[in-house]
Amino acid sequence: MKTTRAVDKVLKSRPTTEGAGVRLKRAFGPAEASLLDPFLLLDDFHSANPDDYLVGFPFHPHRGIETVTYVIRGVIEHRDTIGNKGVINSGDVQWMTAGSGILHQEMPQRYDGMMQGFQLWVNLPASMKMIKPRYREVKSHQIPSISPSDGVQVKVIAGRLEGQEGPIRDLVVKVEYLDVAIQPHKVFSHQVKRDNSALAYVFEGDGFFDPENAGPVKTEHLVIFKKGDVVDIKAGEKGIRFLLVSGMPIREPIAWGGPIVMNTQEELDLAFKELQEGEFIKNG
Ligand code: CO
Repeated sequence: MKTTRAVDKVLKSRPTTEGAGVRLKRAFGPAEASLLDPFLLLDDFHSANPDDYLVGFPFHPHRGIETVTYVIRGVIEHRDTIGNKGVINSGDVQWMTAGSGILHQEMPQRYDGMMQGFQLWVNLPASMKMIKPRYREVKSHQIPSISPSDGVQVKVIAGRLEGQEGPIRDLVVKVEYLDVAIQPHKVFSHQVKRDNSALAYVFEGDGFFDPENAGPVKTEHLVIFKKGDVVDIKAGEKGIRFLLVSGMPIREPIAWGGPIVMNTQEELDLAFKELQEGEFIKNG
């Protein structure tokens, strides 16, 4: 018998600053990461005021993780030390495997109106933390948009829905990443692998994520699901839009130092020593 996933926790995203002073909302980070293995962090940056984001994220390192940047509305320029350079526009996704290490910068450009984007960090297993870095950019038109039921529209960024597979495929950690929009009072039922960690992050409207639970869960709130086979989500009066993300836990120790996430303190110390000594980049 299939079990519907109940809600474990609902958390409101918290204002924080990152990069050179970008004001953003953190949906979850180090404090919650153990509940969401293999996911480490989710940032929601949205603002109608360019002063909040134009300073951007100048050159900084990453090692041991993958980062997924999804721009809902806006323009982000990107360049890195492995020779990639590009522009992420509205609806595009950039998936970057830091592996053994890259230095990159991510610079939001002036945008007329409310810009919005998300960055998700996905951990790498110990055996893959030092792989060669790689980078993939997916344009909005490459992302299938599917209506699995009445009043529901889903963009499949990674994973599979109704026989259609999202464009991000050769992931180290198998992840499903959906952008789900539901019209008022309609329902989206979706199967998620039983033991996978699963989260939803609401960024428009509100809705009900737990058949047993009072609600609704509002914009800028994160839902952490308990284990089970199916998520059942019903939109509130204004409809709802949220990210639905799930993946298989890695179940390894985490040693976390800012933009670098390894398994042991020794590995972290080595990474920072290599940064200081100019030895950080292994696979240029
Ligand atoms: Co970065």
